[in-house]
Amino acid sequence: MRLRLEVNGRKRSAEVPPMKRLLDVLREDFALTGTKEGCGEGECGACAVLVDGALVNSCLVAACQAAGTKVRTVEGLADGSAAADGLHPIQQAFWERGGAQCGICTPGMLMATAALLATNARPTEDEIRAALAGNLCRCTGYVKIVEAVAAAARAKPSRRRSGRALG
Ligand code: FES
Ligand code: FES
Repeated sequence: MRLRLEVNGRKRSAEVPPMKRLLDVLREDFALTGTKEGCGEGECGACAVLVDGALVNSCLVAACQAAGTKVRTVEGLADGSAAADGLHPIQQAFWERGGAQCGICTPGMLMATAALLATNARPTEDEIRAALAGNLCRCTGYVKIVEAVAAAARAKPSRRRSGRALG
């Protein structure tokens, strides 16, 4: 099938099998390798992206399901384009707080955080932990990740651009 969709604000298309995983389309057809594969079974959240603003595990989404959608990957977090320089305040907070170690879980964590802060600008610790419950990390013990999300939420609106629609 000819898959047509929007990725990080840019119209993209590729000739792919209808059941090819969105994760593989992003990585192989669009060279957006920021999105990672962990379990490949919908359990770890490493492959999480936003599809029409909703957090989804891209290993569970078929290309045919993604047709016509707007996808946001970690490459598009900073300013909505894959060519962005600089860090989004969420990325900055993870960096400053040591919220990433090996980094495999980090893109999914960042996108889950973006989804959370888009609807809840000042989440409690419990709300942060609930929002990240589908994202597994083998390295950090989660404390620094939770601290990073809270720090991102506290960032001034002028710094934190996640308030705008992420779709
Ligand atoms: Fe998709 Fe683990 S790789 S949820
Ligand atoms: Fe290694 Fe989270 S930083 S899995």
